[in-house]
Amino acid sequence: MGILDVFLHCFSYTFLLGAFTVVLFMYLISPSSFSTKKHGKEPPGPRPLPLLGNLHLDLKKPYNTLLELSKKYGSVFTVYLGPKKVVVLAGYKTVKEALVDYDDVFGDRNPLEIIRELTQSHGKLLLWSNGDSWKEMRRFALTNLRDFGMGKRACEDKINRQVQVADRKNLPFTDAVIHETQRLSSIVPTALPHKTTRDITFQGQFIEKGTTVFPLLTSALYDPNEWERPHSFYPAHFLDKEKTFVKRDAFILFSAGCRVCLGESLARMELFLFFTTLLQHFRFIPAPGVSEDELDLTPAVGFTLSPLPHKRRAISRM
Ligand code: HEM
Repeated sequence: MGILDVFLHCFSYTFLLGAFTVVLFMYLISPSSFSTKKHGKEPPGPRPLPLLGNLHLDLKKPYNTLLELSKKYGSVFTVYLGPKKVVVLAGYKTVKEALVDYDDVFGDRNPLEIIRELTQSHGKLLLWSNGDSWKEMRRFALTNLRDFGMGKRACEDKINRQVQVADRKNLPFTDAVIHETQRLSSIVPTALPHKTTRDITFQGQFIEKGTTVFPLLTSALYDPNEWERPHSFYPAHFLDKEKTFVKRDAFILFSAGCRVCLGESLARMELFLFFTTLLQHFRFIPAPGVSEDELDLTPAVGFTLSPLPHKRRAISRM
């Protein structure tokens, strides 16, 4: 081994040892190693790696990892997405308390940088804005949607003349099936990121002003304290003994509080009209050669969950 080889060998060894010591040091002083801060106890959570954060998120179903973590750390806990600290709220009561009872504190939006980059179009600005400009845009959008007929009969006439939203009360089982499908599919599992407008001690945990907050809507839609059979398809969740449709408070698919989905009534109307019309005209079965068991309900993951492509056969009832 020449002198140069010995030097390089020693150098890389020293370098690796140094890097390892720095990482270990950062790990030990990383935020989760402090259980209390000057303002009080911060929400607990798994220990993050420096810069990398909590890496054990299941990337195919990150919301499931968050659900699992809530079993260990409780209804208010911290995770690090890379270096970004996020406080997660889990369970119907906690999500509702934050978004409705403290909507002035939890009502701001925190665009994650990557989403902001991807969605810099005018249509998406309302989603990510705060303060007076958000209020103004929200009022403007709502007025326009109503002018276009949202929540009015004129709108449903344009979509479909045979079935009407007024029929919904005569079709309680259909309505229950639609709600149960939405509950189980939980298409916006973490809502959109919120942000605290001021320091708050919430359920005994200190959350600093400006902290990103994920209200884990899916944890309310699957909350075992609220639903008889949280993980099964069970339309009776939305029916009483007389088989009439009942609303359920924990059905917060569209979120709650001041950031509640702006298009909720339009979406609900559309879903009812499209679903009933499709089922009145067609019977849906798997495509030839595909068995029911092969149908995979695993969704494609983004901030919203959408179905993977399926081959189906529509058989006309006419
Ligand atoms: C089944 C369909 C839909 C579902 C499940 C849904 C759900 C949601 C959820 C969970 C949020 C985030 C609330 C939060 O962060 O706390 C949201 C926000 C929003 N949704 Fe929807 N949505 C649906 C359809 C629609 C439609 C059809 C429109 C437009 C006509 C719409 C417009 C909006 C807007 C503008 C916001 C942002 C509100 C704000 O930040 O002030 N949504 N939606």
